[in-house]
Amino acid sequence: MSSLWTSGEVVAALSPVAPVAPFTAEGVTFDSRAVSKGDIFFALAGETSDGHGFVADALARGAAAAVVSREVEGAHGALIRVHDTMKALVDLGRAGRRRSKARIASVTGSVGKTSTKDALRAMLSVQAPTSASVASYNNHVGVPISLARLPRESRYGIFEIGMNHPGEIAPLARQVEAHVGVVTNVGPVHIGHMGSEEAIADEKSCLFTGMAEGAVAVLNRDNRHYDRLADHARRFGVSRIVGFGRSTLADARLLSCDLHDSGSDVAALIHGRRIEYRLGAAGEHWALNSVAALVVVEALGADVAVAAEALANVKASPGRGARRMLKVGSGTIELLDESYNANPVSVRAMLAVLSRTLPKPGGRRILALGDMRELGEGVTADAYHAGLADAVATSGATQVFLCGPHMKALWQCLTPAQRGVHRPDSTSLAQDVAAALRAGDVVAVKGSLGSKMKVVVDAIVAASGGEAGN
Ligand SMILES: Nc1ncnc2c1ncn2[C@@H]1O[C@H](COP(=O)(O)OP(=O)(O)O)[C@@H](O)[C@H]1O
Ligand SMILES: [Mg+2]
Repeated sequence: MSSLWTSGEVVAALSPVAPVAPFTAEGVTFDSRAVSKGDIFFALAGETSDGHGFVADALARGAAAAVVSREVEGAHGALIRVHDTMKALVDLGRAGRRRSKARIASVTGSVGKTSTKDALRAMLSVQAPTSASVASYNNHVGVPISLARLPRESRYGIFEIGMNHPGEIAPLARQVEAHVGVVTNVGPVHIGHMGSEEAIADEKSCLFTGMAEGAVAVLNRDNRHYDRLADHARRFGVSRIVGFGRSTLADARLLSCDLHDSGSDVAALIHGRRIEYRLGAAGEHWALNSVAALVVVEALGADVAVAAEALANVKASPGRGARRMLKVGSGTIELLDESYNANPVSVRAMLAVLSRTLPKPGGRRILALGDMRELGEGVTADAYHAGLADAVATSGATQVFLCGPHMKALWQCLTPAQRGVHRPDSTSLAQDVAAALRAGDVVAVKGSLGSKMKVVVDAIVAASGGEAGN
């Protein structure tokens, strides 16, 4: 395998203002703590610190070169001097994209981006060399970094694109220049910054600007903004629109999804062809992500059957639906950890999973929820929280523990029998939840990252007798 970048290629892409010593690089990073030997380190100006302060250290730790916009003291190694390091990163990303012969997919949506992207990585990497964004590297830094990391040998490239504010998706979509773009769904996420769901749909559809020739748009047929997204996609010139979902109108249709201990058994119709597969993650929302991913695979020209088989190894990650069995008393409890993030769409998806998860004899369904963030101020945010009451009722949760100021609005909608406690924050809630659990229970914990519901997860684990295995 040839190196990721040679100094000649980097010089051609970045037009540095001073001569550059020769090097070859195997990676690209902006995070000085994560520098690996052979990386190109980009000194970016962060919110709290300036990357130039870490250049000497990055080079000392083996970085092949550092991209800088001013002099740095004590830096020993190849320096690439440019006017603007952020622009240079975008330029290198573009160069990575331009030279690539890979088939490229871009993934956006209100929820399920990382899950779908990771599923695609698993489904394609068993077929040919595949590169995908790491974690949720989906913003103005994460996208160009991911493009700059695309190895020249890759046959498939999968890129997550996200947004918190209007106008963020279009420039990233133009950088990625995908052959296939998927919008997992549209819902009230970051609606505080965006104003309305329609505005969110319009923003998501910017994924289809600047796509490659013959582009395919994969859209959620069940979403109420489907037509709006399809219109935008056509206006942006995509060649084909493929719908996925439960709807009989979907080209890729989820037929059934049965939960079992370690995931789901799924049946789907992909362009009229029935396929059945095992998925290592539980829940209809995950099954829908997998159906979307299957049509992306098809549109990329990869093998759908081989991809479906690989879904057995796709698992929910910690904080995003991972399940754990823990010893409690003389039995076990099942912990559904969704502490990484929460919004009205993903909380409902989790409640649907809870409703279909059976407690063991003597056990109950217990729910711990923290505030969903970024839903706007006061009354609007309260209304989204209170609006979960029906889904909480059908989840079968018999004891509900809540924390955070907005969850007070949901608390007021619960029946007295459902009420566990409401506390101001997760630290004060953690012991209440841990103390309530008994053998046989299923407990689901969810909240926005800022609500710190991991504190509740940790308290449950600490109070248990440890992992019981599956
Ligand atoms: N299609 C979906 N519908 C509803 N919730 C989903 C869906 N896909 C994933 N989720 C849930 O949303 C949360 C975030 O998932 P993730 O894939 O990280 O989304 P994103 O990258 O868009 O933030 C997780 O808790 C996950 O279980
Ligand atoms: Mg993500």
